[in-house]
Amino acid sequence: MRPISRSGGPGLTRRGFIKAGGAVVAGLAAGRAVAAGKADTLALRGGTPVRAEPFSTTWPIIDEREEKALVKALRSRNWCCLRGSAVYDFEKIFAEAMGVPHCVLTNGGTTALSASLHVIGVGPGDEVITSPHTFIATINVITNLHALPVYVDVDPDTGSIDADRIEAAVTEHTRAIMPVHLAGWPADIEKIMAISRKHNIPVVEDACQSVFAAVNGRKVGTFGISGCISFQEWKSLVCGEGGAILASDDEFVRRSAAFVNNGRDPKRLLRGYPFPGSNHRMTEFQAAVLTEQFKRFVNGAPRRHENGRYVEEALAKIPGLTPRKRYSDSTWVTYVQFDMDYDRARFKDVPAARFAEALRAENIPMQGGPRRYTGGCHKEKMLEEHLNSRAFRAAFSKDRLEKYRQSLRLPVMDGQAVSGKERLTMDSKIPFLGSRDEMDQIIEAVHKVVRNLDKLA
Ligand SMILES: Cc1ncc(COP(=O)(O)O)c(C=O)c1O
Repeated sequence: MRPISRSGGPGLTRRGFIKAGGAVVAGLAAGRAVAAGKADTLALRGGTPVRAEPFSTTWPIIDEREEKALVKALRSRNWCCLRGSAVYDFEKIFAEAMGVPHCVLTNGGTTALSASLHVIGVGPGDEVITSPHTFIATINVITNLHALPVYVDVDPDTGSIDADRIEAAVTEHTRAIMPVHLAGWPADIEKIMAISRKHNIPVVEDACQSVFAAVNGRKVGTFGISGCISFQEWKSLVCGEGGAILASDDEFVRRSAAFVNNGRDPKRLLRGYPFPGSNHRMTEFQAAVLTEQFKRFVNGAPRRHENGRYVEEALAKIPGLTPRKRYSDSTWVTYVQFDMDYDRARFKDVPAARFAEALRAENIPMQGGPRRYTGGCHKEKMLEEHLNSRAFRAAFSKDRLEKYRQSLRLPVMDGQAVSGKERLTMDSKIPFLGSRDEMDQIIEAVHKVVRNLDKLA
């Protein structure tokens, strides 16, 4: 069999190969004749890789459209949003695209989150329920307000906060619930909203990593009182640094917009600086680039979703590979990351790390390892520094802080509850923007490694 070409391999076209689905897998299992040519020799063993070259890692993708927009903003000499129009124009564009009445742009996802918590009134002595599996910014905004991040363990099948454990964490001090939608995958937001309604606790969604991910047609970031987005450079929609607050409630939006603009009333009903605030404004340069990047993002998002689903469905037919769980059949994933559980026993006991190594040699950027969630913000050293600070000691009794310290044991997050399981993971933000043929290459590379498990010993 020749290396996979864009037009497909001999005998069976690439598309036909994939369409055959389960039959292909069955055929492989039965030892379907595969010519013993160089093409079926693993690249790790000197064979020809399925893909001639690695996927591009150039990010962000730009061209003269971003350059023009940037130069236009520069030449306008209106670099601050108070004089320019790019920031306010994009707020309208983004709110409409996300399906909410209002958007307030900020200089980062972190400031979007902290503005939201501030407007809700989170302060010293309060608790905010959140996930340990997130970027530290989610937690910093809570502790910086001298409130406690109350960690709820994660769902082993997704790495998102386990919604079934949230109610047990609610206390008289709970001021907000802050779920995180990770890497393009929605958390169990409908269940979380039901808890929010039952206990009358507002939800601030950290949707920083998951622009356009949706559940039952509704985009994440639009369920809670506020949804926060990041446009920082490594996200899927970017402008270097930047963020957005999405919201429906008029007064919430007024206060949020004031908070990021030194307390000015955006409605101009009150003069001067009537509200608490600071300067967290986005510049016109960022908004100019973001506006162009957004057009690119809107074009690419369906492709990333369709490609992701296509690869996922094809690989799910291989016994032993189980894609990440969705909380609803109609979940729209943006596939910033793609991952599958890997049952080593079904792969002749080849470790996931070795399987992934073989795939990387085929120029598929897969990583493999134990199925545990590394890190965990509940383990970060800064937490103890906060707990020992004058502000925390003033806001919480000794007893409360001690109980809190005892609560920082999370069996799933800490890896005890999922030991022995393994996972394959790919940063799919760029690869899933590729052509259908390239998706077929990913699928074929996995099949090729499966056919050659014996060679991986
Ligand atoms: C889950 C999560 N929350 C918050 C943030 C903070 O966003 P920013 O870097 O734009 O401040 C990030 C950014 O990496 C993130 O991944």
